[in-house]
Formats: sequence, C-alpha cells, structure tokens
Amino acid sequence: GKSLTLGVFGFGCVGSGLYETLRQSNFKGANIKRFCIANPDKERSAPNALFTTEADELLNDPEIDVIVELIDNSEAAYQIVTKALRNGKAVVTANKKLLAEHLQELIALQDETGQPILYEGAAAASIPIIRNLEEYYDNDLLREVSGILNGSTNFILSAIEDGGTFDAALELAQKLGFAESDPTLDVDGWDAKFKLTILLAHAFGIVVEPSDIPHVGITRISPQVQRIANERRERVKLVGKCWREDKKVFAHVIPTFVTQEDELNQVENEVNGVVVEGAFSQRQFFRGKGAGSFPTAAAVLSDISALTYDYRYEYKKLNREKDFEFVNDHSIWV
Ligand code: HSE
Repeated sequence: GKSLTLGVFGFGCVGSGLYETLRQSNFKGANIKRFCIANPDKERSAPNALFTTEADELLNDPEIDVIVELIDNSEAAYQIVTKALRNGKAVVTANKKLLAEHLQELIALQDETGQPILYEGAAAASIPIIRNLEEYYDNDLLREVSGILNGSTNFILSAIEDGGTFDAALELAQKLGFAESDPTLDVDGWDAKFKLTILLAHAFGIVVEPSDIPHVGITRISPQVQRIANERRERVKLVGKCWREDKKVFAHVIPTFVTQEDELNQVENEVNGVVVEGAFSQRQFFRGKGAGSFPTAAAVLSDISALTYDYRYEYKKLNREKDFEFVNDHSIWV
C-alpha cells in the first residue's frame, strides 16, 4: 500500500487515542503531520510542534493526503470534511451526527470529487459493521440489522440494574469518555439514531433524514419498568433496529425488553452488539466496545489502513435496491 500523510482535527478522547494507537501499532502506512485543535493552552501528551489552531494549515497543505476529523462540533466538522474532499483529500471521520445529517450530500460529494470518506468508527465504534455490510453482506438479501448502538446508555442501564442511579452512572460515563459532551444526545436516543441512519444506508440502500426515524431515549425508564424486567428475567436495552418486510423497510430506536435467548441480552456496560439477519447467511451477532478512546481509535486506524489500498464504500445497494420503500412509522409512540 501507499504511505499516507495525515492531518487530524481534534485531540480529545478519540484523537489522542489515535495518536497513541499509531505509536503502539505495527502499522507503518501513515504518519500524522499535524493536529488542529481549538484550545492551544491545554496540556497534551504529544509534542507542541504537532499542534496548530489554523484549520487551513491542514486543509490547504498539499502534502496531506487524508484529513481525519475527530472533533465534537458537527457543524464545524461539516465545513472541514466538505472542504477536505473539495481540496482533493480523502476523509476519515467518526462523527455520527455529521454523517447522519448530511449523508445524501456526502455521498454525492464523494462522486463529484472522486475522494472517499470512511467512517467505521461512527456506527458501533470497534465493531466492523459498515465494512461487513458493504462487502460481506453485499449480495445477501438482508432482513434485519439491529443492535445496541450507544455505549453510554447501555452503561447506564447496566448500572441501574445493579442498583446504581442514573445520574451517577451518566457522570461516570462522561468521565470515562463514553458519553457525548452533550449527553442528551446519548440519553435521549439521538446518537443511536444517527448510527442507525448510517446503517440503514449500508444495509438497505436507504438514505433518510434522522427525523424520519422515530426514537425514544432512556430517561423515562422508571424503577417499575426495571422491576418488570427483573421479574421476567429480561433486560431493558436501548435497541436500534431496521428491518424489511417484503419491499417495506422500517426503523426505530426504542428501549426494549430483551429476553435471555436474545444475543443482545448479554451485552453489558459500554459494549455494543449488532445482529445481522440475511436471507442466506441467516443470523450473525457481533459484539465489541462501542465507545471509548482506543476502541474508537481502532476503527479510525482501520479506515486509515484501508485508504492505503484505496478502499472506498461503493454504496452498491443504493442503486440496486431502489424499489424498497421506507416506512416512516411513528406508531411506537402510542
Ligand atoms: N457517545 C457514544 C456512545 C460514543 O456512548 O456510544 C461512541 O459513539
């Protein structure tokens, strides 16, 4: 493969994880030329010379082949990612919100510029689900992709089961780097829904607005609900699911009683789980850390590595499965 020069935006949980991951791994296909950060005064675990606050130093640098976007603010991320593609650079991002809110446009922009965006870390962090949907399940006729897609809410639900409080568990999830800096994105179900929006495109070739997918978060799960789950020997999990019934495709994110026989039952703490059911392959189950510095950086590293051999998403299902109809079904509310 080629050797890539990277410009990285952000040195937070994932950015610093990527720096360390690249140092510790045997991968020799890329090196970081520069990090662009917002606050130059923070102490960081990398040499000062690596940092700048000038976005254009990275975006206009002809030596930089790949922009890795790992910042928090999805509006700023949108500017960075679109400019990078237009400037002839490949992009790796883990920004679920950015992707879900602009997916149609970002797919078109990849065609227009000829530059790829890879985003394995944006769906279920360490679980390689996007690449599997793209490649392994390329020609299977999928029935369902469902999963626990948000580590923070799963961490909180595990803590509540063990008698902890919601607030203490959320605080710990933030401290451990699982939660978003605006944790309402996690607890109200937005983050899981952004991820489901991305999976829907790769599983069924359907691109929707996040607002087309109904969602319910975990803030209204009462002690009574938890008691019912305990009595039934089931677990309450925030499940994101898209599924096909003949030509119709449905999707939602909702707290669900998960039985002991269900693969998702044993997925605890910040771990994510994804079930894929295909007409031919039938049922598979993936599990792995769904949040955190190294697990997310691992997915980013894998994307960077894939760019050394010119991997890109083909979005084949977008064209092939045009006859699927997405059903915007908000009846989960009633
Ligand atoms: N806040 C996200 C989560 C981070 O808890 O799953 C990983 O995308």
